[in-house]
Amino acid sequence: MKKLLVILLLSGLVVFSLSFSKKNLRDIYSGPVAYWPAPFVDGGVKWNELGVLPESPVEKQRDSLKHIIELGKILFFDTRLSGSGKISCATCHQPELNWADGKEKSIGHEGAINKRNSPTIQNSWFYKRLFWDGRSSDLQDQAFAPINSEKEMHSEMPDVMRKLRKVNGYKELFRKAFGDEQIDPDRLTEAIAIFEKTIVSRKSRFDIFLEGDKKALTNSELRGLHLFRTKAKCMNCHSGPLFTDNLFHNSGFSGNDDGYYKVTHKEEDIGKFKTPSLRDVMKTGPWMHDGLQKDMHAIIEKFNKADLPAGKDKLIQPLGLTKREKKDLLAFLHAISAAPLEFQKPDLPE
Ligand code: HEC
Ligand code: HEC
Repeated sequence: MKKLLVILLLSGLVVFSLSFSKKNLRDIYSGPVAYWPAPFVDGGVKWNELGVLPESPVEKQRDSLKHIIELGKILFFDTRLSGSGKISCATCHQPELNWADGKEKSIGHEGAINKRNSPTIQNSWFYKRLFWDGRSSDLQDQAFAPINSEKEMHSEMPDVMRKLRKVNGYKELFRKAFGDEQIDPDRLTEAIAIFEKTIVSRKSRFDIFLEGDKKALTNSELRGLHLFRTKAKCMNCHSGPLFTDNLFHNSGFSGNDDGYYKVTHKEEDIGKFKTPSLRDVMKTGPWMHDGLQKDMHAIIEKFNKADLPAGKDKLIQPLGLTKREKKDLLAFLHAISAAPLEFQKPDLPE
C-alpha cells in the first residue's frame, strides 16, 4: 500500500514536472512581458524589452496636421525637386518596397550610383540620428541633403523654389498648410519631415501575437524569438519595440567606410553605423549600409561565427548556434516583417 502511494506520488511528480517543462515557450511568451526570461545582454548595455509597434507621435495630431501632411506627401513624390526633373524622394524610397528601393546602392541623378544602400524611411521618426552614419539629427534637416546631393537629386534649393513657385497648384497647398502662399525651403522640408513621420510599418505577426493571438507565431518563430533575446544576443543592440538601441556600432560589416567617425572624428568610431531597426527587415534587402549582404543566412552565420574583420564591437562574440537555431532565428526575422501598409500615391499639382 505504502509502496503504491510512493509510486503514485513519484509518477505524479514526473507528470507534474513534465507538464511544467511543457510550460513551453508559447506559454511563457504569451504571459506578461515582466515574466519573460531575462535577455542575454552584456554588462553596461542599456536595453529595452521588445514590444508592440509603437505609434508615431504625429498619429494623435493627424487632424490638425492634415494639410501639411498632404503637402509633404506631394513634395515627396514630385520629380520637380530634382535637377533633371526625373527623380523624387520616392524613386529611392518606394511605398511598394517598404519605402526602400531594393537595390544594393541606390541610383540617382543621370544614373549616378550612391555610396550607400537606401534604407527604409518607415518608423524613421524614432531615430535620434539619421543616415547610416548619423550625420543628420532630424528629418527636416535630413530632407535638405538629397535635394542638394550631386548623386541623388542634383538640384539647388533656389532652383527648386523657382520651379515650385511657378506651379499654381502649390500656392493653394502651401496656403492651406501654413496660412499663406509663401514657398520657402523651411516650409518645404518641414512638410516633407512631417509626412515622413506618418510612414510606419504594418503590424507584424509578432505584434499580433503580443496583442493576445497566441497562434500568430509558429513554434520555430517562437524559438527564434527566444534565441533573439537570449543565446543569439541580438538584444545587445537590436532591443526595444523597434529593434534598435539608437546607437552606433561596428558590427563587422563596415568595409572601408568610416561611418560614424565622419561625424564625431573620434578614432573609436571608425566603421560604426547606426543600428537599424529590424522591423520588416526581410522586405528591405539587400542589407547593411553598403547593400553588399544579399543572403540573410550568410548574415546570421557571420554573427554566429563572429569571424568578422578586426575592429568589431566587443558585443559581437561567437554564438555557437546550431543549424536548427539559425533557421529559427531567420523564422523570427520573417515574423517581424510585414508587407507595407496600403498607400495611395498623390496627384501632382500643375
Ligand atoms: C538617389 C536615391 C535617393 C533619393 C532620390 C533620396 N534618397 Fe533618401 N536615402 C538614400 C540613401 C542611399 C540613403 C542613405 C545614405 C546614407 O546613410 O549615407 C538615404 C537616407 C534617407 C533617410 C535616412 C533614413 C535613416 O534611417 O537614417 C531619410 C529620412 C531619407 N533618405 C529621406 C529622403 C527624402 C525626404 C528624399 C527627397 C527629398 C530622399 N530621401 C531622396 C537614397 C535616396
Ligand atoms: C554590436 C551590436 C549588434 C549586435 C549584437 C547585432 N547587430 Fe545587427 N546590426 C548592427 C549594426 C550597427 C548594423 C548595421 C551595420 C552596417 O550597415 O554595416 C546591423 C545590421 C543588421 C542587419 C541588416 C539590417 C539592414 O536593414 O540592412 C540585420 C539583418 C541584423 N543586423 C541582424 C542581427 C541579428 C539577427 C543579430 C543577433 C544574432 C544582430 N543583428 C546582432 C548592430 C548589431
